[in-house]
Amino acid sequence: MTTTTAAPPTTPFERLGGRETIAAITNRFYDLMDTDPAYAKLRAMHAIDLGPMRESLTGFLTGWSGGPRDWFSAGKCVMSLHKPLAIEADTARQWIIAMRRAIEEVVGHSDPQIAKAMGDALEQMASGMAMAGSAAD
Ligand code: HEM
Repeated sequence: MTTTTAAPPTTPFERLGGRETIAAITNRFYDLMDTDPAYAKLRAMHAIDLGPMRESLTGFLTGWSGGPRDWFSAGKCVMSLHKPLAIEADTARQWIIAMRRAIEEVVGHSDPQIAKAMGDALEQMASGMAMAGSAAD
């Protein structure tokens, strides 16, 4: 007897649905930041043109989740890039709330488990950035 079962996804990147889904999350995140006054302080830290950020965050999340690592081949460290920004705790909270909303809208219904895991992991990272900023001397 032969059974044909599809191979399970091997990385969060594959499970999420690849770069297309990640770009959808990133674009929703920046749309929310750009239009909802709840994220005004976070928005004010960013350049007027969010286009380059849409590309860069999509590239980062692609490699971070196990997909192609082009973003990392430039030798950038996302934590070091944020250190000079001196991120306050409430701004970090705005980042994670907007990101959790974006993730929820894009994959929350199809895969609530990966949506929660992704939100939790990014919250850890954003909290670490805030602490680094608060601790700056
Ligand atoms: C903790 C709250 C955060 C704040 C306030 C924040 C703020 C910023 C700002 C102001 C920039 C520069 C934007 C510009 O030049 O227009 C930036 C860049 C960036 N951020 Fe964040 N960020 C936060 C968290 C994160 C997290 C958790 C990640 C990763 C998951 C991330 C990924 C990036 C990336 C990839 C860039 C672009 C870097 C580059 O291409 O040079 N950020 N962020």
